[in-house]
Amino acid sequence: MTKLQHFGWFLARGFGPHGWGHPYLDWNYRWTNPDLYQESARALEQAGFDLVIIEDAPSLGSADTIDLRVRHAFGGPKLDPLLLAPYLFAATRHLGIAPTVNPAAYLPYTAARQFATLQHLSGHRLGLNVVTDTGSARHFGTAAQLGHDAAYDRAEEWLAGIRDLWRSWDDGALLEDTATGRYADGTRLRTVRHRGEHFGFDGPLNAVPFTDGEPSIVSPGGSGRGLGFAGANSDVQLALAPLDEASITAYRGRIHDAARAAGRSPDDIKVLFAIQPVIVSSPEEADRLVAASAHPDEAALTLIAQRQSSDLETDLTALDLDKPLDVGIFGDHVSQGSIRRLIGGHDASAPLRQVLAAHARLGRLSDGSGFVGTAAELADRIEELGTWGNDGVLLWGDLHPVTVHRMLDELVPILRRRGILRSEYTGGGLASNLAAF
Ligand SMILES: Cc1cc2nc3c(=O)[nH]c(=O)nc-3n(C[C@H](O)[C@H](O)[C@H](O)COP(=O)(O)O)c2cc1C
Repeated sequence: MTKLQHFGWFLARGFGPHGWGHPYLDWNYRWTNPDLYQESARALEQAGFDLVIIEDAPSLGSADTIDLRVRHAFGGPKLDPLLLAPYLFAATRHLGIAPTVNPAAYLPYTAARQFATLQHLSGHRLGLNVVTDTGSARHFGTAAQLGHDAAYDRAEEWLAGIRDLWRSWDDGALLEDTATGRYADGTRLRTVRHRGEHFGFDGPLNAVPFTDGEPSIVSPGGSGRGLGFAGANSDVQLALAPLDEASITAYRGRIHDAARAAGRSPDDIKVLFAIQPVIVSSPEEADRLVAASAHPDEAALTLIAQRQSSDLETDLTALDLDKPLDVGIFGDHVSQGSIRRLIGGHDASAPLRQVLAAHARLGRLSDGSGFVGTAAELADRIEELGTWGNDGVLLWGDLHPVTVHRMLDELVPILRRRGILRSEYTGGGLASNLAAF
């Protein structure tokens, strides 16, 4: 049965050099100027999207690998998305904005106050994409770098502390009684005294309470610990999984189990699967693109090697493409999961050329082998996801008017006609829009 779904945009490059490496650079937007993002955000709001999630990495990584990140701007530079958010709020009225935030970077009291400020300024449209990247912690103090699960423990302590501060004004504390001249009742402000493993701070918070709910929490982690965090804490999960019924159902089931275990309802969390479609004008064009991708040229392979070099902080571009990849070059700093994703199903004797070529290969939306197709074919896929109970999708790309229009011009009318995409917002902010269906 067709049902309404939630739509978001995952700005995977973060607040970085949009357009770099693409012909649309010659549209002459400056990536450091808010116009580029404001114009895109307005288009997404017109399209009925719930939110934009802005990726971030505060660090350029280790000295040895900085050049790999900045050389083609795949991994940096990045400006702070939290400070871009007010410009996007000012340009829109309903769209939620969820910058990525790292618990290592903000002390809980500072975070609670800044986020409360943005929640008020935006009319309750703030989301926070809480990530647990551990490598950048060294920029923010002298605390030891944490392991994977410990970083989630710190994120939970941080978030619980922030929520305690947000809730430190009890009902009735804010009076705004012009007859008596009494603004607030200080006896109804709760003392917060937090002494935890990672943070120590006192409250109450110097901010007025929210009228339309707290900022929405987004999370992207896909490990068992990551899904547990999402079930217990998040309003939106940025989900990555193969888009077949078994995988979708299993992923959703794990989050829902974690939600129940934490005393929440599965309905409290919207699981949005991230997809990066390539929309073309006809099935024939899609077939041609997919067929051509089976034989990538040198330029296509080089581009993949450059991107992978940035992500894996290891220079693949200097290697002989016709020799097998020696996984010893990755050292300890690259996760086993990332190495497995690079190598795919290849055995150790496969030349690097073959490994990279597999990443260039595209598939068709129409047969479920990939994401190239027409807008109608994409709408079919999204509609099918809905029949499996899916809450929605996140489209993935630069937040650039060219990308946004290429993806949405034909798709939005089709989704609206089929009753999959909202035509109206609730008017109550992000949490209210997420809760509407
Ligand atoms: C789709 C997706 C988006 C992510 N976005 C960010 C990000 O913007 N910044 C960041 O530091 N980490 C990001 N992460 C990393 C996660 O926060 C987390 O550290 C990582 O996924 C490891 O956790 P996991 O093992 O639970 O997946 C992202 C992960 C995924 C899967």
